[in-house]
Amino acid sequence: MLFDFTYYNPTKIHFGRNSLDELKGELKNYGDTVLLVYGKNSIKKIGLYDKLIEILKESDKTVVELEGVMSNPTYDKVLEGGKLVRDNKVDLILAVGGGSVIDCAKAISVSAYCEGDAFNRYWLNFEEVNNEIIPVGSILTMVGTGSEMNGGSVITHEELKIKTGRVYSPDVYPKFSILNPEYTFSVPQYQMVSGIFDIMSHLMEQYFSGNDNNTTDYVIEGLLRSVIDNAKVAIKSPKDYEARSNIMWSATLALNTVTGLSKEQDWEVHMIEHQLGAYTDCAHGMGLAAISIPYYRHIYSYGLDKFVRFAKEVWHVSEEGKTRDEIALEGINCLESFIRECGMATTLRELGATKEMLPLIANSTVLGGGYKKLTAEDVLEVLEKCY
Ligand code: NZQ
Ligand code: ZN
Repeated sequence: MLFDFTYYNPTKIHFGRNSLDELKGELKNYGDTVLLVYGKNSIKKIGLYDKLIEILKESDKTVVELEGVMSNPTYDKVLEGGKLVRDNKVDLILAVGGGSVIDCAKAISVSAYCEGDAFNRYWLNFEEVNNEIIPVGSILTMVGTGSEMNGGSVITHEELKIKTGRVYSPDVYPKFSILNPEYTFSVPQYQMVSGIFDIMSHLMEQYFSGNDNNTTDYVIEGLLRSVIDNAKVAIKSPKDYEARSNIMWSATLALNTVTGLSKEQDWEVHMIEHQLGAYTDCAHGMGLAAISIPYYRHIYSYGLDKFVRFAKEVWHVSEEGKTRDEIALEGINCLESFIRECGMATTLRELGATKEMLPLIANSTVLGGGYKKLTAEDVLEVLEKCY
């Protein structure tokens, strides 16, 4: 059954090899001053930075830059960007990079004119944004988070040791996003597979909840199959345009709210990973990969029907001569084999966690869950299993 819903997503997507050609037209919709937000050095290495400066100049824009946005962007970086917005009266924030850069840009857009402490008001207390929101446009260079077409903004407060996400209203979604799969060719294999698992995790977090006959679940199964098939190709041939473009669009669809429509959702793997990230600064998708297998073994019996369906529809597990528990567990084993085959993380230790961190992570994780509401003890058990 589908629950009632309203669907609205205002982000305009320009997809493909020539999608940067659309930037000039987009820039016409905004005032003179653009804040260019990017990471450490990848956009310069791939020649994109020079192209952008040229387009911005030709469009008569004054360019202000915020460089060095780190993976797991910090609140300090957001404050630095906010000051640039106010000092230069920025009209558009152009984010060029992966999820960290786009999340940071959205965070700057809502907090630049916020009175008081924006982290406290918007990320911890989930207040409605009642100040000016600077429009954001994005150019995606690393695939996984879906930030290019959603209102998510995940920020780390280093002093408080909290990494937390807030999903903002469509006013904060990027106004436009440019997706050229060729920009992702240079992403190192480690980051590429991290992003691939992030996509799968978004899909599974939305899938493993509820047992309704819901069209959204069929969409998720199709996307998971596409990501699995194309990941195998992209790992062997990183410059395979077909594989990279399929992965890129699947990532956007996996978290642009379509695959969560009219469904209960889980998100506990993400809640645990966020605190793992706050303590270790690990790559987001790698943290998710390490946590997922013990988490799903911990909860599968509470959502047995769905885990059996996952095994059959996503991994083509045959039912013959097997109990339903065996089928469900075989599906989780297939996921584990895929994680190993892709070279994704399987332990927390390899991500920089220490034994002493585990209770700190467990006690600071936001508790929820889909088929089973977790306690801090459950989280600790999951963490110990993948340590
Ligand atoms: O800093 P540079 O030099 O640009 O290098 C980056 C970075 O080191 C590199 N990279 C990006 N494009 C590249 C490239 N290297 C070579 N060639 C290119 N074309 O990749 C590294 C990782 O980038 P990052 O943006 O950190 O990765 P990702 O896209 O996985 O973003 C992770 C962040 O997004 C949050 C995560 O928690 C994490 O903070 N998430 C955001 C979500 C959202 N907004 O909806 C949802 C997700 O679940 C997630 O929580
Ligand atoms: Zn994620």
